[in-house]
Amino acid sequence: MKIARIAVLVSGGGTNLQALIDAQNNGIINSGRIELVISNNPDAYALTRAANAGIASVVITRKHCGSQRAFEEAVVQALENSNIDLIVLAGFMSILSEDFTSRYPERILNVHPSLIPSFCGAGYYGLRVHEEALAYGVKVTGATVHFVNEIPDGGKIIFQKAVEIQDGDTPEILQRRVMEQAEWKILPEAVEIVSKQLMS
Ligand code: GAR
Repeated sequence: MKIARIAVLVSGGGTNLQALIDAQNNGIINSGRIELVISNNPDAYALTRAANAGIASVVITRKHCGSQRAFEEAVVQALENSNIDLIVLAGFMSILSEDFTSRYPERILNVHPSLIPSFCGAGYYGLRVHEEALAYGVKVTGATVHFVNEIPDGGKIIFQKAVEIQDGDTPEILQRRVMEQAEWKILPEAVEIVSKQLMS
């Protein structure tokens, strides 16, 4: 059977990338393989994680490209050069335009650290999502893996997992719990399922 060629787009620490690498190593992901990591931040620790796992990586920044359009064209070029089948946004902190997303219908996945439709959309990313959940006073939050379309965090939901908020939570503590209990599990599971479907 053909294996899906996966590109992971990152911007920061890359713990979700690490969860994907670990899942690939222990067989949770076996219908796809990470062939390329693309970072829009030259200082992202995710790049070190890719190098440690022997995965090719490339840095493409909007600043260097000069415009969002040129940035996205460079990303498309990198994806085409590596014959990528599936794109995974794993802590990728930039919104992609409809020009880009419409090229890859149901071939881009994103992990978001809340139960969509709460605390999502433009402006909700990283720690900010957890700050807003705590400020609102919700008792349950979680993570969502969804397909990416032209609406930020608006594509079809694949998996969600709830996580309880506890007394004394800080945004950092909550972020870690959401990652450990939800993101690092549902992202690899979704990548396996979508890879399998794409290649069948
Ligand atoms: C993760 O919590 C991810 O869900 C979130 O940023 C963090 C990145 O961590 N992504 C977004 O907020 C995207 N809207 P990581 O770099 O360690 O995977």
